Amino acid sequence: MAKRKPLIAGNWKMYKTVAEASDLVKGLKKNLGGISDREALVCPPFTSLAAVAQLLKDSNISLGAQNMHWEEKGAFTGEIAPAMLADAGCKYVIIGHSERRQYFGETDETVNKKTKAAFAHSLTPIVCVGETLAEREKNITLEIIGRQIKNGLAGLTDKQAAELVIAYEPVWAIGTGKTASPAQAQEVHAAIRNLFASMYGNEAAQAARILYGGSVKPDNVSELMRQPDIDGGLVGGASLDVDSFTKLVQFS
Ligand code: PGA
Repeated sequence: MAKRKPLIAGNWKMYKTVAEASDLVKGLKKNLGGISDREALVCPPFTSLAAVAQLLKDSNISLGAQNMHWEEKGAFTGEIAPAMLADAGCKYVIIGHSERRQYFGETDETVNKKTKAAFAHSLTPIVCVGETLAEREKNITLEIIGRQIKNGLAGLTDKQAAELVIAYEPVWAIGTGKTASPAQAQEVHAAIRNLFASMYGNEAAQAARILYGGSVKPDNVSELMRQPDIDGGLVGGASLDVDSFTKLVQFS
């Protein structure tokens, strides 16, 4: 069975002008030029995608976007189509981040439409799931995650399922400095992989990468990455700085 290649993804959220994005990427290119046993990915705001794509040409750092619409084109003011992201040089797109679910009305249904649209345009979706603090305290974490996975990821082909990236991001750990313990994260990752196997078979579930997100930092990344079902990180705050993102990608 193919070994899963670790993926460290930077979610820049609503940070960085074009000039700032370019500076960050130039630094990363210098530091991460030689990586091959792991994959580094940056997801800048839409306005910087073209400039960053240009800088990343001939580099082994991948480019992704943070959101998109599911429709091909049309009168959808303010939205970005999947083909536009592919055209801008994106290989990945983050879908259903908890901030989009919380503030912008994203649901499992829109996540599902976007996931299918991403595959239809040769973009690899990174689909985010995660429970709130209240849900964890009520002991319904696995129920919530199960619903998000079943509904958000319904109707894929086995091949798409194998290529998919899932990000488990407990909402209470995002931007708070509180990380799930490696054991807490591993428990949910293993549950996600089991559920995914029941939907798409063991081969796809063993191939799909499951990232952990929520206050991943240079000093906790290695321990998280030692967990058998954690295949990478989706990183917000610590991805905005050359040194800290370099250290994250260079986890041991
Ligand atoms: P954080 O964000 O690393 O700042 O906690 C993670 C995310 O929201 O993807």
